[in-house]
Amino acid sequence: MANNSNLGAAKAAKNDEFYTQYADIQKEVNAYLEYNPDTFRDKVVLLPCDDPEWSNFTKFFAQNFERLGLKRLISTSYAVESKKYKDYQPTLFETESPLFDVDKTRIKGKIFELTHDTNQNGRIDIDDLEWHYLEGDGDFRSKEVCKLRDEADIIVTNPPFSLFREFLAWIFEANKGLLILGHMNAIHYKEVFPVIQVNKVWLGVSNGAKQYAKPEGGLQKMGNTCWFTNIDHGRRHEPLKLMSMKDNIRFGKHRDIQKRGYYYHYENFDAIDVPYTDAIPSDFDGIMGVPTTFLDKYCPEQFAIVGCAEGDSGKELGLKPYPRELKKLNKSLRDGQLYYIDENGIPQKPYARILIRKKQ
Ligand SMILES: C[S@@+](CC[C@H](N)C(=O)[O-])C[C@H]1O[C@@H](n2cnc3c(N)ncnc32)[C@H](O)[C@@H]1O
Repeated sequence: MANNSNLGAAKAAKNDEFYTQYADIQKEVNAYLEYNPDTFRDKVVLLPCDDPEWSNFTKFFAQNFERLGLKRLISTSYAVESKKYKDYQPTLFETESPLFDVDKTRIKGKIFELTHDTNQNGRIDIDDLEWHYLEGDGDFRSKEVCKLRDEADIIVTNPPFSLFREFLAWIFEANKGLLILGHMNAIHYKEVFPVIQVNKVWLGVSNGAKQYAKPEGGLQKMGNTCWFTNIDHGRRHEPLKLMSMKDNIRFGKHRDIQKRGYYYHYENFDAIDVPYTDAIPSDFDGIMGVPTTFLDKYCPEQFAIVGCAEGDSGKELGLKPYPRELKKLNKSLRDGQLYYIDENGIPQKPYARILIRKKQ
Protein backbone atom coordinates (compact mmCIF):
# COMPACT_ATOMS: atom_id res chain seq x y z
CA MET A 1 0.00 0.00 0.00
CA ALA A 2 2.74 2.45 1.10
CA ASN A 3 4.71 1.51 -2.00
CA ASN A 4 1.73 2.13 -4.23
CA SER A 5 1.08 5.57 -2.82
CA ASN A 6 4.79 6.44 -3.14
CA LEU A 7 4.66 5.39 -6.74
CA GLY A 8 1.51 7.45 -7.23
CA ALA A 9 3.13 10.52 -5.68
CA ALA A 10 6.23 10.09 -7.84
CA LYS A 11 4.08 9.76 -10.94
CA ALA A 12 2.05 12.85 -10.06
CA ALA A 13 5.26 14.80 -9.44
CA LYS A 14 6.54 13.87 -12.88
CA ASN A 15 3.29 14.70 -14.65
CA ASP A 16 4.43 18.21 -15.44
CA GLU A 17 8.07 17.31 -15.90
CA PHE A 18 8.79 16.18 -19.44
CA TYR A 19 10.74 17.99 -22.09
CA THR A 20 10.10 18.72 -25.71
CA GLN A 21 12.62 17.49 -28.26
CA TYR A 22 14.47 19.92 -30.50
CA ALA A 23 13.27 18.35 -33.76
CA ASP A 24 9.60 18.71 -32.77
CA ILE A 25 10.02 22.42 -32.08
CA GLN A 26 12.01 22.93 -35.26
CA LYS A 27 9.43 21.16 -37.40
CA GLU A 28 6.57 23.24 -36.03
CA VAL A 29 8.31 26.63 -36.14
CA ASN A 30 9.60 26.01 -39.66
CA ALA A 31 6.06 25.49 -40.89
CA TYR A 32 5.10 29.03 -39.80
CA LEU A 33 8.19 30.41 -41.48
CA GLU A 34 7.32 28.64 -44.72
CA TYR A 35 3.96 30.38 -44.67
CA ASN A 36 5.36 33.73 -43.57
CA PRO A 37 9.14 34.15 -43.23
CA ASP A 38 8.56 37.24 -41.05
CA THR A 39 6.42 35.48 -38.43
CA PHE A 40 8.98 36.19 -35.68
CA ARG A 41 10.74 39.22 -37.20
CA ASP A 42 11.33 42.05 -34.71
CA LYS A 43 9.33 40.17 -32.13
CA VAL A 44 9.97 39.67 -28.43
CA VAL A 45 9.54 35.98 -27.66
CA LEU A 46 9.00 34.79 -24.09
CA LEU A 47 9.55 31.17 -23.07
CA PRO A 48 8.09 31.17 -19.55
CA CYS A 49 8.67 27.57 -18.43
CA ASP A 50 12.12 27.08 -19.87
CA ASP A 51 15.62 26.79 -18.55
CA PRO A 52 18.19 26.56 -21.35
CA GLU A 53 20.07 23.94 -19.38
CA TRP A 54 17.31 21.55 -20.37
CA SER A 55 14.82 23.39 -22.56
CA ASN A 56 15.11 22.86 -26.28
CA PHE A 57 12.77 25.81 -26.75
CA THR A 58 15.49 28.09 -25.40
CA LYS A 59 18.14 26.29 -27.42
CA PHE A 60 16.14 26.46 -30.62
CA PHE A 61 15.14 30.12 -30.35
CA ALA A 62 18.63 31.19 -29.21
CA GLN A 63 20.35 29.30 -32.00
CA ASN A 64 17.94 30.65 -34.59
CA PHE A 65 17.80 34.18 -33.19
CA GLU A 66 19.22 35.77 -36.33
CA ARG A 67 17.41 33.55 -38.83
CA LEU A 68 14.08 34.35 -37.17
CA GLY A 69 14.97 38.04 -36.94
CA LEU A 70 14.06 38.21 -33.24
CA LYS A 71 14.32 41.45 -31.33
CA ARG A 72 14.63 39.87 -27.89
CA LEU A 73 14.42 36.38 -26.46
CA ILE A 74 13.48 35.89 -22.81
CA SER A 75 13.42 32.52 -21.14
CA THR A 76 12.46 32.03 -17.50
CA SER A 77 12.71 28.94 -15.34
CA TYR A 78 10.85 27.71 -12.31
CA ALA A 79 12.70 27.13 -9.02
CA VAL A 80 13.27 23.50 -8.19
CA GLU A 81 11.86 23.84 -4.66
CA SER A 82 8.58 25.08 -6.13
CA LYS A 83 8.34 22.11 -8.53
CA LYS A 84 6.64 18.89 -7.60
CA TYR A 85 9.64 17.02 -8.99
CA LYS A 86 12.71 18.01 -6.98
CA ASP A 87 15.40 15.69 -8.26
CA TYR A 88 17.71 18.31 -9.72
CA GLN A 89 21.39 19.25 -9.64
CA PRO A 90 22.60 22.64 -10.86
CA THR A 91 24.75 22.34 -13.99
CA LEU A 92 28.31 23.56 -14.46
CA PHE A 93 26.90 26.46 -16.46
CA GLU A 94 25.36 27.76 -13.26
CA THR A 95 27.86 26.62 -10.63
CA GLU A 96 30.87 27.94 -12.56
CA SER A 97 29.25 31.30 -13.21
CA PRO A 98 30.33 34.20 -10.96
CA LEU A 99 26.59 34.74 -10.41
CA PHE A 100 26.10 31.33 -8.79
CA ASP A 101 24.51 31.62 -5.35
CA VAL A 102 24.11 28.51 -3.27
CA ASP A 103 21.29 30.12 -1.26
CA LYS A 104 19.33 30.99 -4.36
CA THR A 105 19.91 28.07 -6.69
CA ARG A 106 17.00 25.95 -5.45
CA ILE A 107 14.47 28.61 -4.48
CA LYS A 108 14.74 31.29 -7.14
CA GLY A 109 13.69 31.21 -10.74
CA LYS A 110 16.16 32.33 -13.39
CA ILE A 111 15.90 34.61 -16.37
CA PHE A 112 17.96 34.20 -19.54
CA GLU A 113 17.95 36.96 -22.10
CA LEU A 114 19.32 37.30 -25.57
CA THR A 115 19.40 40.63 -27.38
CA HIS A 116 22.87 41.20 -28.79
CA ASP A 117 26.29 39.76 -29.52
CA THR A 118 27.74 39.81 -25.99
CA ASN A 119 30.92 37.83 -26.82
CA GLN A 120 31.50 39.83 -30.01
CA ASN A 121 32.14 36.85 -32.22
CA GLY A 122 30.05 38.33 -35.01
CA ARG A 123 26.80 36.47 -34.42
CA ILE A 124 24.01 36.32 -31.86
CA ASP A 125 23.44 32.83 -30.56
CA ILE A 126 23.09 30.67 -27.47
CA ASP A 127 26.54 31.74 -26.18
CA ASP A 128 25.28 35.30 -25.85
CA LEU A 129 22.55 34.45 -23.33
CA GLU A 130 22.81 36.54 -20.17
CA TRP A 131 21.23 35.33 -16.97
CA HIS A 132 20.49 36.15 -13.38
CA TYR A 133 18.25 34.91 -10.59
CA LEU A 134 14.71 36.26 -10.46
CA GLU A 135 13.34 37.87 -7.30
CA GLY A 136 10.82 35.06 -6.93
CA ASP A 137 10.54 31.42 -7.96
CA GLY A 138 9.73 32.07 -11.65
CA ASP A 139 6.07 31.10 -11.39
CA PHE A 140 4.50 32.32 -14.64
CA ARG A 141 1.76 33.92 -12.51
CA SER A 142 4.21 36.02 -10.48
CA LYS A 143 4.31 39.77 -10.91
CA GLU A 144 7.79 39.79 -12.44
CA VAL A 145 6.98 37.10 -15.04
CA CYS A 146 3.66 38.84 -15.83
CA LYS A 147 5.67 41.97 -16.53
CA LEU A 148 7.85 40.01 -18.97
CA ARG A 149 4.70 38.59 -20.57
CA ASP A 150 3.43 42.13 -21.08
CA GLU A 151 6.68 43.05 -22.82
CA ALA A 152 6.51 40.04 -25.13
CA ASP A 153 4.77 39.63 -28.50
CA ILE A 154 4.65 35.83 -28.61
CA ILE A 155 4.65 33.26 -25.79
CA VAL A 156 6.07 29.88 -26.75
CA THR A 157 6.48 26.80 -24.57
CA ASN A 158 5.30 23.44 -23.40
CA PRO A 159 3.60 24.59 -20.16
CA PRO A 160 2.73 22.44 -17.14
CA PHE A 161 -0.27 20.46 -18.39
CA SER A 162 -1.85 20.59 -14.94
CA LEU A 163 -2.09 24.39 -15.26
CA PHE A 164 -3.05 24.48 -18.93
CA ARG A 165 -6.36 26.38 -18.49
CA GLU A 166 -4.72 28.97 -16.29
CA PHE A 167 -1.78 29.27 -18.63
CA LEU A 168 -3.94 29.95 -21.67
CA ALA A 169 -6.04 32.48 -19.72
CA TRP A 170 -2.79 34.15 -18.62
CA ILE A 171 -1.80 34.64 -22.28
CA PHE A 172 -5.25 35.89 -23.28
CA GLU A 173 -5.35 38.32 -20.38
CA ALA A 174 -2.51 40.16 -22.10
CA ASN A 175 -3.69 39.45 -25.64
CA LYS A 176 -0.45 37.87 -26.87
CA GLY A 177 0.60 35.60 -29.69
CA LEU A 178 0.98 32.00 -28.61
CA LEU A 179 2.49 28.71 -29.67
CA ILE A 180 2.16 26.13 -26.92
CA LEU A 181 1.89 22.39 -26.53
CA GLY A 182 -0.98 20.80 -24.67
CA HIS A 183 -3.03 17.65 -24.40
CA MET A 184 -5.76 17.16 -27.00
CA ASN A 185 -8.27 16.72 -24.18
CA ALA A 186 -7.81 20.42 -23.45
CA ILE A 187 -9.78 21.14 -26.64
CA HIS A 188 -12.94 20.20 -24.74
CA TYR A 189 -12.28 22.42 -21.70
CA LYS A 190 -14.92 25.10 -21.31
CA GLU A 191 -12.15 27.70 -21.20
CA VAL A 192 -10.60 26.43 -24.44
CA PHE A 193 -13.30 25.25 -26.84
CA PRO A 194 -15.07 28.63 -27.19
CA VAL A 195 -11.86 30.30 -28.38
CA ILE A 196 -11.30 27.50 -30.90
CA GLN A 197 -14.88 27.83 -32.09
CA VAL A 198 -14.46 31.53 -32.89
CA ASN A 199 -11.03 31.00 -34.48
CA LYS A 200 -9.10 32.86 -31.80
CA VAL A 201 -6.98 29.74 -31.31
CA TRP A 202 -6.40 26.80 -33.63
CA LEU A 203 -4.23 23.73 -33.80
CA GLY A 204 -0.68 23.93 -35.05
CA VAL A 205 0.75 22.24 -38.09
CA SER A 206 2.38 19.05 -36.85
CA ASN A 207 0.18 17.19 -34.41
CA GLY A 208 2.14 17.64 -31.20
CA ALA A 209 5.07 15.42 -30.45
CA LYS A 210 4.96 11.68 -30.05
CA GLN A 211 7.75 11.44 -27.47
CA TYR A 212 9.13 13.69 -24.76
CA ALA A 213 12.37 13.51 -22.78
CA LYS A 214 12.10 12.33 -19.18
CA PRO A 215 13.96 14.24 -16.45
CA GLU A 216 15.87 11.09 -15.46
CA GLY A 217 16.89 10.46 -19.09
CA GLY A 218 15.28 8.48 -21.88
CA LEU A 219 12.11 9.17 -23.77
CA GLN A 220 8.48 8.86 -22.83
CA LYS A 221 5.77 8.16 -25.39
CA MET A 222 2.82 10.52 -25.20
CA GLY A 223 0.03 10.30 -27.73
CA ASN A 224 -2.57 12.98 -28.16
CA THR A 225 -0.59 16.12 -27.57
CA CYS A 226 -0.94 19.00 -29.98
CA TRP A 227 0.18 22.53 -30.63
CA PHE A 228 -2.24 25.34 -29.85
CA THR A 229 -1.60 28.65 -31.57
CA ASN A 230 -3.02 31.89 -32.86
CA ILE A 231 -0.26 32.34 -35.43
CA ASP A 232 -1.37 31.75 -38.98
CA HIS A 233 -0.01 28.83 -40.99
CA GLY A 234 -0.63 27.39 -44.43
CA ARG A 235 -2.14 24.05 -43.49
CA ARG A 236 -5.28 25.66 -42.06
CA HIS A 237 -6.07 27.26 -45.40
CA GLU A 238 -5.96 23.98 -47.33
CA PRO A 239 -9.52 22.67 -47.70
CA LEU A 240 -10.07 18.96 -47.18
CA LYS A 241 -10.69 17.02 -50.39
CA LEU A 242 -13.90 15.11 -49.78
CA MET A 243 -16.28 12.76 -51.55
CA SER A 244 -20.06 13.03 -51.73
CA MET A 245 -22.15 11.03 -49.28
CA LYS A 246 -23.17 8.58 -52.01
CA ASP A 247 -19.53 7.98 -53.01
CA ASN A 248 -18.44 7.58 -49.41
CA ILE A 249 -21.05 4.86 -48.98
CA ARG A 250 -20.16 3.15 -52.26
CA PHE A 251 -16.39 3.60 -52.56
CA GLY A 252 -15.17 5.05 -49.27
CA LYS A 253 -12.42 3.18 -47.43
CA HIS A 254 -14.44 2.73 -44.23
CA ARG A 255 -16.08 -0.68 -44.28
CA ASP A 256 -18.53 0.09 -41.47
CA ILE A 257 -20.08 2.96 -43.43
CA GLN A 258 -20.11 0.91 -46.65
CA LYS A 259 -21.69 -2.09 -44.97
CA ARG A 260 -24.34 -0.04 -43.22
CA GLY A 261 -25.11 2.02 -46.31
CA TYR A 262 -25.98 5.20 -44.40
CA TYR A 263 -24.66 7.64 -41.79
CA TYR A 264 -26.21 7.54 -38.33
CA HIS A 265 -28.43 10.47 -37.45
CA TYR A 266 -28.44 11.44 -33.78
CA GLU A 267 -31.70 10.91 -31.93
CA ASN A 268 -31.38 13.92 -29.67
CA PHE A 269 -29.80 16.49 -31.97
CA ASP A 270 -30.37 17.30 -35.63
CA ALA A 271 -27.02 16.16 -37.03
CA ILE A 272 -25.39 13.11 -38.59
CA ASP A 273 -22.51 11.18 -37.06
CA VAL A 274 -19.32 11.12 -39.14
CA PRO A 275 -16.85 8.81 -37.41
CA TYR A 276 -13.83 9.69 -39.61
CA THR A 277 -12.64 13.07 -40.86
CA ASP A 278 -11.98 11.67 -44.34
CA ALA A 279 -15.58 10.42 -44.50
CA ILE A 280 -17.12 13.90 -44.15
CA PRO A 281 -19.58 14.07 -47.05
CA SER A 282 -18.86 17.04 -49.30
CA ASP A 283 -22.52 17.51 -50.18
CA PHE A 284 -24.17 17.45 -46.76
CA ASP A 285 -25.38 20.89 -45.69
CA GLY A 286 -26.60 20.09 -42.19
CA ILE A 287 -24.66 19.72 -38.94
CA MET A 288 -22.17 16.84 -38.61
CA GLY A 289 -20.57 15.33 -35.52
CA VAL A 290 -16.88 14.64 -36.26
CA PRO A 291 -13.98 13.34 -34.15
CA THR A 292 -11.82 15.87 -32.29
CA THR A 293 -8.92 15.03 -34.62
CA PHE A 294 -10.86 16.88 -37.34
CA LEU A 295 -9.31 20.03 -35.89
CA ASP A 296 -5.94 18.90 -37.28
CA LYS A 297 -7.44 19.38 -40.73
CA TYR A 298 -9.81 22.23 -39.97
CA CYS A 299 -9.89 24.95 -42.61
CA PRO A 300 -12.04 27.88 -41.43
CA GLU A 301 -12.89 28.84 -45.00
CA GLN A 302 -14.40 25.39 -45.56
CA PHE A 303 -16.22 24.66 -42.29
CA ALA A 304 -17.75 26.49 -39.34
CA ILE A 305 -17.59 24.98 -35.87
CA VAL A 306 -21.07 24.81 -34.38
CA GLY A 307 -20.25 23.39 -30.96
CA CYS A 308 -18.65 20.69 -28.92
CA ALA A 309 -20.74 17.75 -27.86
CA GLU A 310 -18.39 16.76 -25.08
CA GLY A 311 -17.89 17.74 -21.47
CA ASP A 312 -18.94 21.17 -20.32
CA SER A 313 -19.79 22.56 -23.74
CA GLY A 314 -22.03 19.58 -24.61
CA LYS A 315 -24.57 20.64 -22.01
CA GLU A 316 -24.90 24.07 -23.57
CA LEU A 317 -25.94 22.64 -26.95
CA GLY A 318 -29.31 21.70 -25.52
CA LEU A 319 -29.28 18.00 -26.45
CA LYS A 320 -32.64 16.39 -25.75
CA PRO A 321 -32.56 14.20 -22.61
CA TYR A 322 -31.88 10.50 -22.93
CA PRO A 323 -35.30 8.80 -22.67
CA ARG A 324 -35.95 6.74 -19.53
CA GLU A 325 -37.22 3.72 -21.46
CA LEU A 326 -33.89 3.46 -23.32
CA LYS A 327 -31.85 3.38 -20.13
CA LYS A 328 -32.20 -0.37 -19.80
CA LEU A 329 -30.72 -0.83 -23.29
CA ASN A 330 -27.53 1.11 -22.58
CA LYS A 331 -26.86 2.01 -18.97
CA SER A 332 -23.70 3.94 -19.75
CA LEU A 333 -25.52 6.72 -21.62
CA ARG A 334 -26.22 9.99 -19.79
CA ASP A 335 -28.29 13.11 -20.38
CA GLY A 336 -26.28 15.74 -22.21
CA GLN A 337 -24.61 13.17 -24.50
CA LEU A 338 -25.28 12.63 -28.18
CA TYR A 339 -26.68 9.24 -29.08
CA TYR A 340 -27.87 7.34 -32.12
CA ILE A 341 -29.62 4.00 -32.48
CA ASP A 342 -27.44 1.33 -34.09
CA GLU A 343 -28.57 -1.39 -36.54
CA ASN A 344 -29.50 -3.64 -33.62
CA GLY A 345 -31.74 -1.02 -32.09
CA ILE A 346 -29.28 -0.23 -29.28
CA PRO A 347 -28.63 3.41 -28.32
CA GLN A 348 -24.93 4.25 -28.65
CA LYS A 349 -22.84 7.25 -27.71
CA PRO A 350 -20.16 8.22 -30.24
CA TYR A 351 -16.71 9.06 -28.94
CA ALA A 352 -15.99 12.79 -28.35
CA ARG A 353 -17.54 14.79 -31.16
CA ILE A 354 -17.20 18.31 -32.47
CA LEU A 355 -20.16 19.65 -34.43
CA ILE A 356 -19.41 21.34 -37.72
CA ARG A 357 -21.24 22.64 -40.74
CA LYS A 358 -20.04 23.25 -44.27
CA LYS A 359 -19.63 26.90 -45.18
CA GLN A 360 -21.71 27.96 -48.15
C1 LIG B 1 5.84 20.01 -19.46
S1 LIG B 1 7.30 20.75 -18.76
C2 LIG B 1 8.04 21.39 -20.20
C3 LIG B 1 9.30 22.10 -19.99
C4 LIG B 1 9.84 22.84 -21.23
N1 LIG B 1 8.93 23.90 -21.63
C5 LIG B 1 10.06 21.88 -22.35
O1 LIG B 1 9.21 21.75 -23.20
O2 LIG B 1 11.10 21.20 -22.36
C6 LIG B 1 6.60 22.13 -17.91
C7 LIG B 1 7.57 22.84 -16.99
O3 LIG B 1 6.90 23.92 -16.31
C8 LIG B 1 7.33 23.95 -14.94
N2 LIG B 1 6.29 24.59 -14.15
C9 LIG B 1 5.36 23.99 -13.35
N3 LIG B 1 4.61 24.92 -12.75
C10 LIG B 1 5.06 26.14 -13.18
C11 LIG B 1 4.68 27.46 -12.90
N4 LIG B 1 3.68 27.73 -12.08
N5 LIG B 1 5.37 28.47 -13.50
C12 LIG B 1 6.38 28.21 -14.35
N6 LIG B 1 6.80 26.96 -14.65
C13 LIG B 1 6.13 25.93 -14.07
C14 LIG B 1 7.53 22.48 -14.61
O4 LIG B 1 8.37 22.35 -13.48
C15 LIG B 1 8.15 21.96 -15.90
O5 LIG B 1 9.53 22.10 -15.89
